[in-house]
Amino acid sequence: MDFISKGFHHSTHVSSNAARTLAFYRDILGFRLVKKTVNFDLPDTYHLYFGDDKGSPGTLLTFFEWPNSPRGSWGVGGIHHVALGTKDYDTQLKWKRWLTDHGVPVSGPYDRGYFTSIYFADPDGQILEIATEGPGFDIDEPMNALGRDLMTPPESRLPAGRDEAKIAATTYPEPVDALTGDMTLEGIHHITGHTDDLSAAGEFYERALGLKLVKKSFNQDAPEILHYFWANYDGERILPGSDMTLFGAPKNGRKSREGVGQTHHIAFRADDEEQLSAWREHLLQQEIDVTEIRDRSYFKSIYFRSPDGLLVEIASDTPGFAIDEPVATLGQGLKLPDWLEANRSEIVTQLRPLS
Ligand SMILES: [Fe+2]
Ligand SMILES: [Fe+2]
Repeated sequence: MDFISKGFHHSTHVSSNAARTLAFYRDILGFRLVKKTVNFDLPDTYHLYFGDDKGSPGTLLTFFEWPNSPRGSWGVGGIHHVALGTKDYDTQLKWKRWLTDHGVPVSGPYDRGYFTSIYFADPDGQILEIATEGPGFDIDEPMNALGRDLMTPPESRLPAGRDEAKIAATTYPEPVDALTGDMTLEGIHHITGHTDDLSAAGEFYERALGLKLVKKSFNQDAPEILHYFWANYDGERILPGSDMTLFGAPKNGRKSREGVGQTHHIAFRADDEEQLSAWREHLLQQEIDVTEIRDRSYFKSIYFRSPDGLLVEIASDTPGFAIDEPVATLGQGLKLPDWLEANRSEIVTQLRPLS
């Protein structure tokens, strides 16, 4: 098999309050709660999984509830934001109107060239983006030669050239009364972190995960900082949902800190356990320290770290969320692995109510 990642499986985040997280991701962002379970390592706290109707890999955001944890912070070795896909500029403006009408402050829409972006935060401060599908990375270099040259964004996309008042005032002209089908989020569009060594990080994403450098540019909000993008790219197309991006922080820049409002880890896909096992052998051959295969009930997983310390997982698409409840009722019951079932009543009394 070729060791080229098919993109993101999920990202996992830290919540201080599972009930509030549920209300935000389900009621405001329109995710489905596809699994209600506990953190297998801390069974008196929730682990909630959100995704599309079926809980498809690539649409999943998961949350540990750590009620007593201090706030985390972004920085080197951590994730700055997770971007979710939307069809086009029109649906993006609907999202802006919907979010602001629900009291969620939104910045943007910003023209990033390759897509347009709005930004907001979840109730714990996790930074989220909603990004349009296009126009794509081939607007400033040919599709068969992405990532070769350093691209300088035009002045109009940089802080000095932007009309911030006009951007802030840009929104959908009418109230959005309910989430409509065209607004359904398309899963993880890209994930952006910080590194203080772009070449070491790039080598890692290329060597370990088979991703290719598809854009070298600058952070368009802080143009003194480099911004590089990797993806599953074959010279003809970029696979949606495979775009890992990194800001180049200064050497010895602020390290990320684990905690509430931060991304705990990111996970890439493997088809099944057999592929996962092959990935594990591949990583070992690359002299990357990787865990044994762990059973996460809904997928099997291996874990390793990027050179700057980010926790990275590869998770199998199988067996999926329908293994212990029907697709029609995903997320309704509290699901426990067999080895915790014996303690169900004790676990249930310790969990805080979800609504
Ligand atoms: Fe995970
Ligand atoms: Fe982004």
